[in-house]
Amino acid sequence: MEKIDVLLGLQWGDEGKGKVVDVLTPRYDVVARFQGGPNAGHTLIFDNKKFVLKSIPSGVFQGDKQNIIGNGMVIDAALFKAEASALEEAGINLKDRLLISKKAHLILPTHRLLDSAIEASKGAGKVGTTGRGIGPTYTDKVARTGVRMGDILRPDFEERYAAAKAAHERTLKSLNYEYDLTEIEAAWRDGIEYLKQFKFIDSEHFVANTLRSGKTILCEGAQGTMLDIDFGSYPFVTSSNTICAGACTGLGVAPSAIGRVYGIMKAYCTRVGSGPFPTELFDKDGEAMSDRGQEFGAVTGRRRRCGWVDLVALRYAVRLNGVTNLILMKSDVLDTFDTVKACVAYQLPDGTRTDEFPFDCEGVTPIYEELPGWKTDLTKLHSEDEFPEEFNNYISFIEEYLEAPVSIVSVGPDRNQTIER
Ligand code: GDP
Ligand code: IMO
Ligand code: MG
Repeated sequence: MEKIDVLLGLQWGDEGKGKVVDVLTPRYDVVARFQGGPNAGHTLIFDNKKFVLKSIPSGVFQGDKQNIIGNGMVIDAALFKAEASALEEAGINLKDRLLISKKAHLILPTHRLLDSAIEASKGAGKVGTTGRGIGPTYTDKVARTGVRMGDILRPDFEERYAAAKAAHERTLKSLNYEYDLTEIEAAWRDGIEYLKQFKFIDSEHFVANTLRSGKTILCEGAQGTMLDIDFGSYPFVTSSNTICAGACTGLGVAPSAIGRVYGIMKAYCTRVGSGPFPTELFDKDGEAMSDRGQEFGAVTGRRRRCGWVDLVALRYAVRLNGVTNLILMKSDVLDTFDTVKACVAYQLPDGTRTDEFPFDCEGVTPIYEELPGWKTDLTKLHSEDEFPEEFNNYISFIEEYLEAPVSIVSVGPDRNQTIER
């Protein structure tokens, strides 16, 4: 029986997952998302065209592969319609190829309002969410009060929706949050009708049958390991399990069915929203990363915070996910640097040194190793043989520390700027 391969982010998201899933798609029969929702922004660039996918898997542009929205995802009908219809307009046929789990949860219009209201009530302690209703939707899932995709087809859908909405409105009132639902509710209802043309499946059966028939599946993670609800920098995290185990629960596959685990990382590090970021830079190096890397959020347009690569957090992520292959992204952004730094340990507030990611990384001081820069335009390279020695050394340094091989090196945003080793 074939195994499922998983590709997921090892940092705080935006590592370049969408680009690489698109590159790897021709090798698989099915691409599946297993968690998150329209908080994700996965950018793909090819043939001078750019697409940003939010809820739709990144396997829709390569041939006629099937794509799955897994049970672990949360879907906003209005945003889904906008995303899917834009793709259809661009000539991408989704109707027969996009399968949606009946067990995925629906983001209701009031979930989005609750996200804003709860954030506003937190003041300076806010998470800095994407405002897409992700946290409140997963909260309802765990509270057993959520509305699922399969409920759309049930005769009592309206009652289920009304019950959830009424509970949300009571909370919004208690938070003194002023709102007008008319427009967003109309767009959402329109989205619900639009969704009905798609095939709703039980992803657990679909996945099992796909593997049995000898077909292959690639799972696409969203967000990143450091945003995982259990292991990330809590409470400044998203509300789902972004780690490899999330593919098991978010799609309905057994751990023994997982094959390769591709862990994707930038050659530096970024983060959007609030929360600790040990290697964050506030100097010209950070500015250069932000400018050269075009580090602006694909969903909210917010400027991403930038810093040096954090090998302490990365080794933690590699171990949590059982990464078998590393994918190194955006090294070209560091092309002009004379030297590059990598964080190899933290000094904790009490003065002790550790290379294990601590319970709380707020207030730790990063300890760096400095390596020579490569001072070469990597974006023009086509094979590993052309890599300058300094860049090879940088890759080896990462491989040794993380105890995993770098199998793919991305040297630019385009589909073609991808080098396998
Ligand atoms: P995702 O959320 O993990 O899919 O990543 P995003 O799409 O949010 O952010 C990655 C950004 O980096 C996008 O703008 C990509 O077009 C861009 N990108 C991806 N790989 C590379 C690369 O190797 N070099 C450069 N310079 N940009 C890249
Ligand atoms: P992709 O898939 C980067 C961050 C938000 C916020 C926290 C919680 O493109 O890598 P949420 O809206 O999920 O409740 O926000 O998580 N966040 C992301 N940061 N990339 C993402 O997705 C993110 N999705 C959520 O900025 O700090
Ligand atoms: Mg992104």
